[in-house]
Amino acid sequence: MTFIPYISQERINSRITELGKQITREYAGKMPLFICVLNGAFPFASDLFRQFDSDGEIEFIRLKSYQGTGSTGVVKEILGLNADIKDRDIIIVEDIVDTGRTIEKLINDLSKNGPRSIRVATLLFKPEALEVDLKPDYIGFSIPKKFIIGFGLDLDEVARNLNDIYVLKED
Ligand code: IMP
Ligand code: MG
Repeated sequence: MTFIPYISQERINSRITELGKQITREYAGKMPLFICVLNGAFPFASDLFRQFDSDGEIEFIRLKSYQGTGSTGVVKEILGLNADIKDRDIIIVEDIVDTGRTIEKLINDLSKNGPRSIRVATLLFKPEALEVDLKPDYIGFSIPKKFIIGFGLDLDEVARNLNDIYVLKED
């Protein structure tokens, strides 16, 4: 398997800065609750949350639906949420929205607990792979239906520590 450079650290950083400014404009004074979806979203959530220039909170949840380079189609909740989300403005922070199944499941589960609003911020979005009727509210980069790694994204748990994003070479 060969991976080639796809999105540089510089581009990622400047895009996250832009998203942080936008979210600050839209959420300042609302004390939003960022919910980081582990494992993949941790670098993005860390950077995005620090670019949020107002008061807010962050929590972590763990979900898993992938094995190797293909979705298993089964979304399992592994680690639950501790915060009381009733009447809160929630920003779900994801590394990537592919089929959208993970985010759909999470929105459904969170909605049962009476939040005031739920929006989705994702570093990456594969519009061609989407199988559900929702679109992320904040998108870092829209990309084709290709497998990528780095900046939190893994291939069987490896490569999350790469600072740039790489795409699987198809030949
Ligand atoms: P979805 O439920 O199909 O939207 O998949 C979402 C999850 O699949 C993400 O949170 C990732 O963990 C994983 N995933 C989807 N596409 C990729 C990829 O290109 N590289 C690495 N992981 C991916
Ligand atoms: Mg993930």
